[in-house]
Amino acid sequence: MIQQQNLPNIGIIGATGAVGKVCLSILDEKNYPADKIHLFASSRSEGKGINYKDKKLIVKNANKNSILGLEVVFISADSDVSKKIAPMAVSQGSLVIDDGSAFRMEENVPLVIPEVNEKDILYHEGIISIPNCTTTPLAMALNILRKVSKIKRVQVSTYQAVSGSGSMAISELKNQVDQISNSQEITKSVYPHQIAFSLIPQVDDFESDGYTKEEHKMINETKKILHDNTLSISATCVRVPVYMCHSEVVSVDFENEVDIEKVLNLFSNSSGISMVGSGQDSDYPTPAMVEGSDSVYIGRIRKDNSSKYGINFWLVSDNLRKGAALNAIQIMESAIKLNKIPNFNK
Ligand code: A2P
Repeated sequence: MIQQQNLPNIGIIGATGAVGKVCLSILDEKNYPADKIHLFASSRSEGKGINYKDKKLIVKNANKNSILGLEVVFISADSDVSKKIAPMAVSQGSLVIDDGSAFRMEENVPLVIPEVNEKDILYHEGIISIPNCTTTPLAMALNILRKVSKIKRVQVSTYQAVSGSGSMAISELKNQVDQISNSQEITKSVYPHQIAFSLIPQVDDFESDGYTKEEHKMINETKKILHDNTLSISATCVRVPVYMCHSEVVSVDFENEVDIEKVLNLFSNSSGISMVGSGQDSDYPTPAMVEGSDSVYIGRIRKDNSSKYGINFWLVSDNLRKGAALNAIQIMESAIKLNKIPNFNK
């Protein structure tokens, strides 16, 4: 836990967006002092006031001068913004914690989930990336499972909330629900198909192999975080008409037989993971239950009857908290602990 007296000056780029707002509310929960928080967005939002505790923080346009003197810069906008702002921030000595995909797979950029690979922070060169919001809960679960037996193969299907695509997508779902309820034509700009009362088996653009970029991100990022390029993993990502929380169905094949009780025990005693139910009744996590929580919730654990050494389970995590803002803040807390914020001395 960070100490209140001496905390870095932080900037939130994308403060008016879906992740930025959650970042601010987590800082509020942690009683982060208002005078150490600086908010940035596009020029459209310049001058806008955002309430924080008993203060109103004014949003600035992010540029080389306005970010000067910040010790930590969180970026949650699109990749072009990250590519423009991050080098500027690094050159003036800030630690950048980036929520986008711009730098995740670069060799000199650690991709970090503190519960899994906190020590990777030690080799940062100015930028640390946060994994994709579907990768984080999966990598956390697999990191624990590989202690039980070597993992042979992972298959995962996702059920992803619209908030993962930002504020515009939240509005698109709301508008379509209203339009359909009022027998009007639906309008769409974020997704290629109607999302209200339907679902879309596509998250991000397609690659030439028939997988989407999101599926590639899940696969490649998980290998990078676990430092295991040999991991055999396949993913199918689906957008569902849920506002908050991503869910996943995960099937894991091991090299040896695993004891389900042992797995339940390990999950129950792992930091950042909460087990729900025994897997034999309707006691399991759902997005509505998990919204606003920090843990990755796991339920419906059972042996895979079609595979000799396989198990299946269900997980749900708040994509804006552990999937983004919370993980970013935890990375900053770890960087303080490890003394890895260049211009900041504890
Ligand atoms: P703005 O509200 O001014 O457009 P979301 O992921 O919910 O769509 O939010 C995207 C966030 O990124 C918003 O806060 C948005 O600010 C911000 N943003 C967009 N373009 C820029 C930019 N060029 N510089 C800084 N922030 C930006």
